[in-house]
Amino acid sequence: MTTIDRKKLAELQERELKRFVAEHPRSAALYEQAQESLLGGVPMNWMKKWAGPFPVFAAKAKGAHFTCVDGREYVDLCLGDTGAMTGHSPDAVVEAVTKRASEGITLMLPTEDALFVGEDLKKRFGLPHWQFTLTATDANRFSIRIAREIMQRPKILVFHYCYHGTVDEAFAGLTDGVVGPRRGNIGPPVNPEETTRVVEFNDLNALEEALKQHDVACILAEPAMTNVGIILPEEGYWNAARELARRYGTLLIADETHTICAGPGGCTAEWKLEPDMVVFGKAIGSGIPGATYGCSEEVAQRISARIHLEDCDVGGIGGTLAGNALSLAAMRATLEHVLTAGNFVRMTELASRFNEGVSGEIRKHELPWNVQRLGCRAEYTFCQKPPRNGGESAAAADFTLERLLHLYALNRGVLLTPFHNMALMCPETNPADIDQHTQVFAEAAGELTRS
Ligand SMILES: Cc1ncc(COP(=O)(O)O)c(C=O)c1O
Repeated sequence: MTTIDRKKLAELQERELKRFVAEHPRSAALYEQAQESLLGGVPMNWMKKWAGPFPVFAAKAKGAHFTCVDGREYVDLCLGDTGAMTGHSPDAVVEAVTKRASEGITLMLPTEDALFVGEDLKKRFGLPHWQFTLTATDANRFSIRIAREIMQRPKILVFHYCYHGTVDEAFAGLTDGVVGPRRGNIGPPVNPEETTRVVEFNDLNALEEALKQHDVACILAEPAMTNVGIILPEEGYWNAARELARRYGTLLIADETHTICAGPGGCTAEWKLEPDMVVFGKAIGSGIPGATYGCSEEVAQRISARIHLEDCDVGGIGGTLAGNALSLAAMRATLEHVLTAGNFVRMTELASRFNEGVSGEIRKHELPWNVQRLGCRAEYTFCQKPPRNGGESAAAADFTLERLLHLYALNRGVLLTPFHNMALMCPETNPADIDQHTQVFAEAAGELTRS
């Protein structure tokens, strides 16, 4: 197997940085100017993490492509880290949102679109009752609150290296088997050890140990982990985990925000998971802020038994703009016209093409890497075998190598997600876009391994 020469890696990085700076003068100037009004020169702190000395400022995006303010064109495989898995600005959504925006954006009153969306979600995920928020983070936070309230238990359980948005209870990790704040956790309100149990994914014994004390209200889980590479459940894992949750009286919340890439009803439908609650955000409104959480009949009954009308506006579940007319119009158009079964078939075929291309190059250059896929999402990690859990995947991370590959791709017109090596397909991605990535990946692998 080939090992990466770190000296060569550093040389390539320097060369690519120079190219990036030379080719993006307008983005550089805007970034410079932005220092005067924006903290760190960016509208959101994570935008600093793009591979380069400054982010590319976007001009226009449509479908699977965008142009930057320097007039360069890109294939977008990041797709707003799933927010634009629908493709940028799909026509049907633009039309619905434009109409709604001229007829009232937010009223604190329901609109008819909500009924269509509720019915559609019911069919996709098999859960009967739905509520809306502005972000998946909020949908997770509210689901956790509900679980704690109706189960009358204090703790939640998450998997090591999970990500569910900026949810305090989920910013927990394991260090030598002990739960504590995850690296980088900014100002945690309490040590998450007080609120959270953490176990490795794919470890049923650890899960049972954690549930045995009958104090865990819910498991908050991505059915397949997607935020530390793609980690698929082992055969039979979810059947057994589901059974353990039932045995110990713990609710199962499936966060399908990313795993919706598996199909129209996410992994819940594909793998017949039968969760008690489902969360789905980001792509549900093609990037117009909006998210949802749904629950089973039993959970719904427990909610109405414990949560009273008089307190429902101040109970910690809310958001003035939640369920607003514009979000619901965007969701309706997205579900009806964009996240359709037909589009998922095409998108999934393209992700397979991506994997074939990348794995061919990995083999050719004898790199100790692998590439995984979940529906229309693909990702390569720097270890030979697909990782089984978050700990294994995190141990294989190589920040410097990742940055080089991202910058290399960006300089050749391909955008990957800034945080790991993820590529996502949208309905308008085409085979040529995927082949462009394969070509770029092949060049990078060739340069990295050439002696
Ligand atoms: C699985 C999962 N759930 C929830 C979220 C939170 O989404 P948002 O930042 O839109 O609230 C994310 C964000 O990356 C996520 O990956």
